[in-house]
Amino acid sequence: MSKVDVLLGLQWGDEGKGKIVDVLAPRYDVVARFQGGPNAGHTLEFDGIKHVLHQIPSGIFRHTTKNIIGNGVVLDPIVFQKEIEKLQAFKHLDVKANLFISKKATLILPTHRLLDQAYEKAKGDNKIGSTLKGIGPTYQDKIGRQGLRVGDILSQNFSEKFKKLTEAHFKILKDHDIAYEWQELETQFLTAIEFLKGFNLIESEYVLNKELSLGSSILAEGAQGALLDIDFGSYPFVTSSNTVTAGACTGLGIAPRHIGEVYGIFKAYSTRVGSGPFPTELLDEEGERMRQEGREFGSTTGRPRRCGWIDLPALKYSIMINGVTQLLMMKADVLSIFPVIKACVRYQLKDGTMTDVLPYELVNEKIIPVYKEFEGWTTSLNVDGSSVENLPEQLNVYIKFLEDELQVPITMVSTGPDRTQTVFRSLKTA
Ligand code: GDP
Ligand code: IMO
Ligand code: MG
Repeated sequence: MSKVDVLLGLQWGDEGKGKIVDVLAPRYDVVARFQGGPNAGHTLEFDGIKHVLHQIPSGIFRHTTKNIIGNGVVLDPIVFQKEIEKLQAFKHLDVKANLFISKKATLILPTHRLLDQAYEKAKGDNKIGSTLKGIGPTYQDKIGRQGLRVGDILSQNFSEKFKKLTEAHFKILKDHDIAYEWQELETQFLTAIEFLKGFNLIESEYVLNKELSLGSSILAEGAQGALLDIDFGSYPFVTSSNTVTAGACTGLGIAPRHIGEVYGIFKAYSTRVGSGPFPTELLDEEGERMRQEGREFGSTTGRPRRCGWIDLPALKYSIMINGVTQLLMMKADVLSIFPVIKACVRYQLKDGTMTDVLPYELVNEKIIPVYKEFEGWTTSLNVDGSSVENLPEQLNVYIKFLEDELQVPITMVSTGPDRTQTVFRSLKTA
């Protein structure tokens, strides 16, 4: 029996998951998304072209890899149609043959997007900073046992079910000041549903377990990041799914004993988009330089990402919850502009206590990060960053420090957005 390796973000999303899944995909027979939906924006770059995927797994550009959208995903058919049409411009890709969608994935309706807007508006200053893709309201309906699923589109009474759920949504929307043109949204949705019917809609838990029994290798692709997890993130400033390793089991129908390697991806610094606590956030010119150098603007919404130094207490927490076996460090090149690099090693709490444990009251407690400083390398990593031997000494010192603190090996270092700008140290696949 082979294993399922899991790749996920250890921070607040946008760590570079799309790039690494694309890099690793040739080593896997299957790549599967297990949670989230169009709130994700996963960027891949190769041959001078940048692609941003939202719902389609990042193995889609590798011809020999099967891509599966698992049952844990919330799927917006309208966004799906647009994504597929974009990919159709790349004639050599056979997307239809390589893409499989779970019948148990939940559908995002246009009214879910409207509800997302309504709920955010009602929260006023306490808004989550949602991507407004309808994620929260869709998972709410799933848990409330009234959601529509991909498999339902094949049933005779789909129109009835759709009408019933949208009517329930209209009742809620009546109490909110949200403008919309329903006729247009409905037509768009129903057209996209017909489009979706043309794809391989499957019982993905059977397919994945069959693949495992045949010895296929599977990579589960996470979306968002551990600190946005519904249970373990900085609640309520989180997304509405389990973004952690356990989510791969429920989101794909894979038993825990089949999990192999857990790749934890983190940026050499930190970013966050949307509201919520961010202990190491830099609100000064240094943060602005990081944003510009790292091109830290949302892949899904274009919003500027908040930037700050790396946060080791937060990373230790994510490593613990996820059972990370290998760390992959992203965007090391972005730190090349800083003569001094800082790492938050612990927090000082209001009463003066020092800790490296995330406090329950992370949202309201004013935390002072305690930093350790490192000499920067101030040389470009992109000149010949493709081998371990060429990494500057100061970067090796920083890597060694992180490995000692986090007690997990850093087996890959990314030095640029392109597929080729990847330095393998000792990466292991299951
Ligand atoms: P994801 O959501 O985790 O897939 O990450 P995003 O695609 O939202 O954001 C990561 C951004 O960083 C994208 O624009 C990538 O092209 C870019 N990127 C990925 N790895 C690197 C890297 O090592 N260096 C630099 N400079 N950019 C990178
Ligand atoms: P990827 O997969 C970064 C954030 C939003 C908001 C919160 C809730 O590209 O890393 P939601 O739309 O889920 O209700 O928003 O979570 N968020 C992300 N931030 N990367 C993402 O995905 C995100 N998906 C959601 O900004 O703060
Ligand atoms: Mg992203």
